[in-house]
Amino acid sequence: MKELDRHKAFELASPFPYVLAVTLDARDRPNIIGLSWWMFTSWDPLMIAISVGHQRYSHECLEHHREFVLCFPSEGQAKDAWLCGTKSGRKVDKFLETGFKPIHSKIVQPPIIEGVTAAFECKVVNHLETGDHTIYIAEVVATHGDHERAMHLYSIHYTKLVSIDCKGNINFDLKY
Ligand SMILES: Cc1cc2nc3c(=O)[nH]c(=O)nc-3n(C[C@H](O)[C@H](O)[C@H](O)COP(=O)(O)O)c2cc1C
Repeated sequence: MKELDRHKAFELASPFPYVLAVTLDARDRPNIIGLSWWMFTSWDPLMIAISVGHQRYSHECLEHHREFVLCFPSEGQAKDAWLCGTKSGRKVDKFLETGFKPIHSKIVQPPIIEGVTAAFECKVVNHLETGDHTIYIAEVVATHGDHERAMHLYSIHYTKLVSIDCKGNINFDLKY
């Protein structure tokens, strides 16, 4: 063990499960952000926290409308999922740019992305300022999943995606 700079340590600590949070902007248009800083925080009630940078358009969206859907993009969605982590909704409409299809959520207003492995509808109940990010803490109000699309995405630092399923199968060679 030796001292490493934060980039090398992040790479070593990888992979992190890579998810997409769908929010609504002030005009009620859905936006999507790629996130690896998220966690489940409680089982009963089921709760999730996401950490969103102050500069992100998604931060603005969550300040406007305190709901999001946390989607686990499936293996075949790597290219579009990557775009959501590298372009801002301030400049592009990510549903138009990616071809992701929005489908109605059961309870919250932001839509689910069609074809994902699992999706959690969330209502924000609290938030915490932490350095240059805000942690939004949310209660899960509905859960969805698709056994046919079990392979989903993990990020290696901020440079690469791989896919892994719940049985431990791994694909390092994604085309995106
Ligand atoms: C692998 C990966 C993980 C990321 N994780 C986070 C994260 O946890 N929190 C965050 O605020 N941004 C994260 N980002 C950066 C945002 O996804 C990116 O800045 C995005 O363009 C913001 O979109 P928006 O401006 O439409 O909200 C990540 C990007 C990548 C590629």
